[in-house]
Formats: sequence, structure tokens, C-alpha cells
Amino acid sequence: MNELDSLVESATQLFAQSATPADLENAKAQFLGKSGRVTELMKGMAQLSVEEKKSRGAAINVTKQAIEAALTARRQALADAELQVQLKAEALDVSLPGRQRGQGGLHPVSLTLERIEGIFGSMGFDVAQGPEIETDWFNFTALNTPEDHPARSMHDTFYVEGGTATAPNLLRTHTSPMQIRHAVQHVKKHRAALDAGQPMPEIRVIAPGRTYRVDSDATHSPMFHQCEGLWIGENVSFKDLKVIFTDFCRTFFESDDLVLRFRPSFFPFTEPSAEIDIQFQTGPLAGRWLEVAGSGQVHPNVVRNMGLDPEKYIGFAFGMGPDRLTMLRYGVNDLRLFFDGDIRFLSQFQ
Ligand code: DAH
Repeated sequence: MNELDSLVESATQLFAQSATPADLENAKAQFLGKSGRVTELMKGMAQLSVEEKKSRGAAINVTKQAIEAALTARRQALADAELQVQLKAEALDVSLPGRQRGQGGLHPVSLTLERIEGIFGSMGFDVAQGPEIETDWFNFTALNTPEDHPARSMHDTFYVEGGTATAPNLLRTHTSPMQIRHAVQHVKKHRAALDAGQPMPEIRVIAPGRTYRVDSDATHSPMFHQCEGLWIGENVSFKDLKVIFTDFCRTFFESDDLVLRFRPSFFPFTEPSAEIDIQFQTGPLAGRWLEVAGSGQVHPNVVRNMGLDPEKYIGFAFGMGPDRLTMLRYGVNDLRLFFDGDIRFLSQFQ
């Protein structure tokens, strides 16, 4: 083997021993760099004759090309190896089962609220929302329950620090303040028509939401839900209340033979007032009277506080407990289960 062939061989060997691209570049410099072995050979030609230069130069060129070819091959081999390592590291096992994301669902009471809104919506009722921190005026006074009224003590009210009688000072004890809030808005909207002696479109609204009282046991929670209903017009009667509420209950409970009973009661904002009881004819609760709502004809003082003339406008209101409706619908006997946040319980309603 001549000197040039062995140079190619030692270069090829050194390239093969280079495990990384950086090693390979160092090895390259030893042969092809400024003071590398091939460059030295070129410099060594200075003393040669023109003829000798020609043949020697051609031979060195062949050597250089052979070394470059070995270098390129090794570069490629290292790049391939690196790619393999990377591919292996990033490999996806497409046969692995996917990781499941927990899927959320609506709370049973939310399901009930949706149901209530859907049913009353189909009967032409709007849905109104209002504040949970209320004023004395909307929660009590405007609802015919002045300061010294004994009915105030029926509500165990949470008061808010720093409130005054006109600024919000309590957590609403019921959704009834929404009767006033909504009616006042409605009247304002139709003020011009009213002033011109034209008929006002009827007020037909429900107002579901959270309410608060100092109370806690298996059937009472300090936070609970109510849904208010209000229907005011020039020709609305107790009969209408009975028809729509019977319809509502039968649809809600999917029970066509369910029976309603209006039991005389007292609420300051209605006169006369009635408690609404329902009775199932079949199923586990059959035959028992179950209280589901308070109701009554809206008191003239309340109609007046809505900005309407009680001689002309009449109507009825009702207030029901969506929590209790949920318990009855699903056969749950402890209200607290709804608010404990235990997924094992709540996921049963999905
Ligand atoms: N607000 C009453 C309560 O919390 C429930 C109620 C009774 C609402 C009669 C009404 C009604 O609208 O007419 O106990």
C-alpha cells in the first residue's frame, strides 16, 4: 500500500471512530484542515518539476477526494444514527388506550331549574335574574312587610355588615323581591303606553335563583333555591294560577293524574294566600299530600309598589323550592347531599 492509500485508510478509520459530529469535524481538520496532512502533501510539491507536479498533484487530488467521500459518508451515517435515536425517543404507541378526561355534568338542581324554565318558557313566561344581596325595601317593605311586621321574623335573615335600609344590606331570604324588580322594569318599559291609556302587555315571569336563611338540617340548608312566578294583567284570575300550576306539575313530574290542592295560608304579599300541595296517584309517594309552593293573589299594596293601579291590575304570584322538587323527582331524602359536592352522589344524575 503506498503512502497515499494508507493516508486514505487512516482517515477513514479516524472518521469511523468519531462518535459525534464534533469529533468528526476534529478528525476532518487533521486531514483537510489548513495544516492537515493533505495540505502538507500539497505544500511538499513546491520543489517538484512541472512534470512531476502534474502526476503528483493528480494523485493527491484523488486522495483528497477519497477522504472527502469518506467524510461525507460518515457525516451521513452519524446524522442517520441521530435521527434513529430521536425517532425512538419520540415514538408513539398508538395501541395504548387514551387517557380519559373526566366529563362534567349539570348538578341535579340545575337540571331542575332548566326543566322549570323550559316548562314555564313554553307557557310564555320570561326568565328574570336579580341580585342575591338585597335591600330591605325589595326583600320586605315593598312586599307589604314593613319594619315592625311580625312576618319578618318568619325569615331568619342574614344581614350584611355596613348595609343601610336603602343600600343592599341582607342576603335575600326569598326570590319574591324579583316580583317588584321585574314589574318596575316592565312598567318603565311601557310607561308611554300606560300614560296614553293603552293596554300594557301582561307581566309573565319566573325568577329562579339562590336564597339564604339562617337554617340548617336534613330539609333546610342556609343556601337554597327558590323560583318565583308572577303573572299580572287586567284579566288574570286564581283559576289561571290553578291551570298553569297544575300543567307545570304534571309536566315536571311526568305524571298526568297528579292532583293539586290549594290550602289557605298567609303571606304578607298575597291576599288571599294559599299553600299548593300535590298528590301522586302512583309510585312510592302515592296518596300523600306534598307541599310544593306558596302562592296567592298579589296584594294591592304590592301592585301599587310595582307602579300599577291595583283597581285595574290584578294577578297572582307563587314561590316554589327547586331543591324540594329535585328531592321529590329523584327520591332523595336529605337536602344536604345536593350541596356536599360528593361526585359519587352527583354523578348519578348524569
Ligand atoms: N316568598 C315566600 C317564601 O319564601 C314564598 C311565596 C309565597 C312566594 C307566596 C310567592 C307567594 O310569590 O305568592 O316563603
